[in-house]
Amino acid sequence: MTSSDTTSPAKPFLDVLNGQRRSTPPLWMMRQAGRYLPEYRKVREQAGGFLDLCFNPDFATEVTLQPIRRFGFDAAIIFSDILVIPYALGRSVRFEAGEGPRLDPLDTPEQVATLSRAADFGKLDAVFEALRRVRAALDPKVTLIGFCGAPWTVATYMVAGRGTPDQGPARMMAYRHPEAFSTIIDVIVENSIQYLLRQLEASAEVLQIFDTWAGVLPAAEFQRWSVEPTKRIVAGVRAKVPNAKIIGFPRGAGAQLPGYVEATGVDAVSIDWAAEPGFIRDRVQSRVAVQGNLDPLVLIAGGAALDRAIDDVLANYAQGRFLFNLGHGIQPETPIAHVEQMVKRVRDFRG
Ligand code: CP3
Repeated sequence: MTSSDTTSPAKPFLDVLNGQRRSTPPLWMMRQAGRYLPEYRKVREQAGGFLDLCFNPDFATEVTLQPIRRFGFDAAIIFSDILVIPYALGRSVRFEAGEGPRLDPLDTPEQVATLSRAADFGKLDAVFEALRRVRAALDPKVTLIGFCGAPWTVATYMVAGRGTPDQGPARMMAYRHPEAFSTIIDVIVENSIQYLLRQLEASAEVLQIFDTWAGVLPAAEFQRWSVEPTKRIVAGVRAKVPNAKIIGFPRGAGAQLPGYVEATGVDAVSIDWAAEPGFIRDRVQSRVAVQGNLDPLVLIAGGAALDRAIDDVLANYAQGRFLFNLGHGIQPETPIAHVEQMVKRVRDFRG
């Protein structure tokens, strides 16, 4: 046990973001509310569409709490989606069953000229209401996470109108029409700041910025479209709430993680499973808390491979400030018994 380790934490997850190391790392999973849970699928059927689920405070509260009840995680993440920002900007956003999101593409300067600058946050009232209800229902030691997508990642869906394997349409637009593209980014930056502040007001305690597609960008473009806009969001939130705790997740950033941490000022960084442990310890965990990074596929595989992979993650990172998580979201086909196996193994660990 180190001198910074407390034995009776008020909130294990927040303690780590506030500079402590926990001998048993706090634990949650990205995309922990979702289709791998039968109780989620049941509510999802009742709700109808995916956005109907997000925008009904009863349903959104219920599915946010489901994984906490089942697994006793240290953090709850509010049930919503990164694409509610384009939705509140008046873009058409639909989720087709089994196909992922569909938006009206925004890939010419002419279309960008018609883009609304200010989101209608009234359209997201249900998210704020669900945050208040979840906070009231949660054990005080469980931390409540609000989130948004990073501007680059949100823009990739707005430009292409859908997910693509390497987000080529947004990369192409950024090369061909950098001014129009930077208008999209600016609109997302401004509205994400407002959105995150409203989530804090509605009782979110930590914010996570998901940059799922950071890893497809060349270094200079990563700096311009991922790092700089994220830095503006962090600064914009802290201008109003100076001690706001923020986790960044620039998936696939690899060797650019130290630069991302330095420039953006995030309190913690979520790392994917391809990260190199020695590099992360020396260059990243020495400055901020680290979150991650079990491969979601080994959680599907289970068995001895899962035990080994969990032990590796713990051996790699648990001596420093660490939050146990996956390297990306949990997949729908994951057996619940494997999640239980992971929870038990992490809970039994003392580093
Ligand atoms: O449990 C949680 O983590 C909270 C809720 C949450 C969702 N989406 C719910 C969701 C969070 C944090 C997100 C973030 C999100 N959404 C990201 C960034 C993180 C990541 O996983 O990369 C991205 C890129 C999106 C956009 C998005 N939403 C896609 C590409 C899809 C379809 C693919 C998929 O995973 O299903 C969604 C739909 C979505 N968002 C679902 C859920 C539970 C599935 C919808 C359903 O029930 O049919």
